[in-house]
Amino acid sequence: MSETPEPFSSLPEIRKELRKERERSAQADPVSVYAIMDSSLSSFFYAFRSTLPPSRTQPIPLLEKKYDAFRKYIEETLRQGDTKNLAAIEFGGPGYRLFDGFTPNFFKQTLGVCLKYDQKNEPLNLTEEERHRVLIGNIFDESMYSDVRKLIKGKEVGLIISRMAGPLHDMTRNPRLLSVVMKAWYRLLTHSPSLMFVQFPQSEFLYVRIKKWQEYIQEEFGETMELQVGGDAFRLLKKEGAPIELPLIDNFENEEIFYGWC
Ligand SMILES: C[S@@+](CC[C@H](N)C(=O)[O-])C[C@H]1O[C@@H](n2cnc3c(N)ncnc32)[C@H](O)[C@@H]1O
Repeated sequence: MSETPEPFSSLPEIRKELRKERERSAQADPVSVYAIMDSSLSSFFYAFRSTLPPSRTQPIPLLEKKYDAFRKYIEETLRQGDTKNLAAIEFGGPGYRLFDGFTPNFFKQTLGVCLKYDQKNEPLNLTEEERHRVLIGNIFDESMYSDVRKLIKGKEVGLIISRMAGPLHDMTRNPRLLSVVMKAWYRLLTHSPSLMFVQFPQSEFLYVRIKKWQEYIQEEFGETMELQVGGDAFRLLKKEGAPIELPLIDNFENEEIFYGWC
């Protein structure tokens, strides 16, 4: 994996929008703005529940902890490949509690990326503290991805998860911002198979486009990728043989529907 990531986009208008978004989000003070900062795996389960394959959520045995369905799905999927060097990243959160919910030692390196993190939350039951890192960085900043690559060097990223619960509103009017960031995240997925769980801002405008994207992926790449949209989130399963770059609807053939989605 190269340490110098591809630029997000060479199109000047997209670069301008990204710069604006980076500056806008950097001005917010997340510590005072957000009520939730370091949620547990069970809280993530509720955000992503409807993106799981139906067989994973119904029926959940009464005595089983509900979020175990989420943990099991992720771990069992990633176990289909070699797990000795597995890494996982949360974008938009410190990830302490999230990664603490997985089987100890399952991930050899975990990373949380967020704008600020003032709370002094110690890792809970992590077997080796240094295996979890928090990187203060902005997802709209290309150079941040070089730091991510350095921190996960030698590991295989099998899981990317993002539940920002709020701050990405501008993506609703401009899905291009979402698509360039998704491309950058997808490039980090080096384990086979690998998973990406992403919550996107609630918006009919965005939802319609993401559903179209789902149809496109299933039709064109259904054998090597699984994309399931549920509510305001999606799950992407990247299997052996999947395209190197995230396939997006970028041909603008139907401008009315796909305008802005590149
Ligand atoms: C509402 S909190 C959610 C935290 C965590 N994901 C959770 O579910 O508990 C929003 C998080 O998104 C992060 N965030 C917002 N905009 C960001 C950006 N542009 N780049 C990186 N992180 C960002 C904030 O730093 C904060 O950690």
